[in-house]
Amino acid sequence: MERIDKIIASQGKYSRSDVKSLISKRRVTVDGVVVKSSSEKADAEKHTICIDGMPLTIKKNIYLMLNKPKGYVSATEDKEHQTVLELVPEDYAGRELFPAGRLDRDTTGLMIITDDGVMAHNILAPKKHVQKVYHVTLDIPVTAEMQKGFADGVELNDGVCKAAGLEITGEYTATVTLKEGRYHQIKRMFGCFGAKVTALHRTAMGDLYLPDDLTEGHCRELTADELNKLQQIK
Ligand code: URA
Repeated sequence: MERIDKIIASQGKYSRSDVKSLISKRRVTVDGVVVKSSSEKADAEKHTICIDGMPLTIKKNIYLMLNKPKGYVSATEDKEHQTVLELVPEDYAGRELFPAGRLDRDTTGLMIITDDGVMAHNILAPKKHVQKVYHVTLDIPVTAEMQKGFADGVELNDGVCKAAGLEITGEYTATVTLKEGRYHQIKRMFGCFGAKVTALHRTAMGDLYLPDDLTEGHCRELTADELNKLQQIK
């Protein structure tokens, strides 16, 4: 059994204070009985919680996509820096969310935040080879030599990388496609060619793309279709 206000707020649509107000206006019922206090408890799996007579559909897990800005670390806690979880709306406070995968503090773009450990494990497991796409800007021009090196497999101090795609999109810019995710991988790969990455932005993971209308620092729940794309990674 859990507090009713916590159950409703954890679904993301209403904040704790919204729920308080709904309850004080007698708009919330549990199995048809009006809830009088936010501290009343219910079991979301056994009881039917309704708001204005409409049953609340309980989501077992939450899946958010974030357009990560610079300056945030991909962790749940950090003593020194802000974490990506600080960008998640308060409404999800009751959930044990974590970032599924890492982007460096100065990397921007697509990141999944969830409380579904199984799904996170699935998309991150190295043997799944989930393709990740990054837009990269360098301090020196991108060369055909880099392109060939990426295709052949760059040798890093922790072993040879899998073949990676490098499409030259401008004098200093490229789109890189990786099938693995090692520590600072893209920066280290370009480092082998004497280049420094000055901007790195992830645009896709598997078939999931960062939408143009999701502005930096914002997150939203995945649509059913987007979630399906992630769940197909098996
Ligand atoms: N490669 C990097 O170097 N950094 C990232 O954040 C992601 C890929």
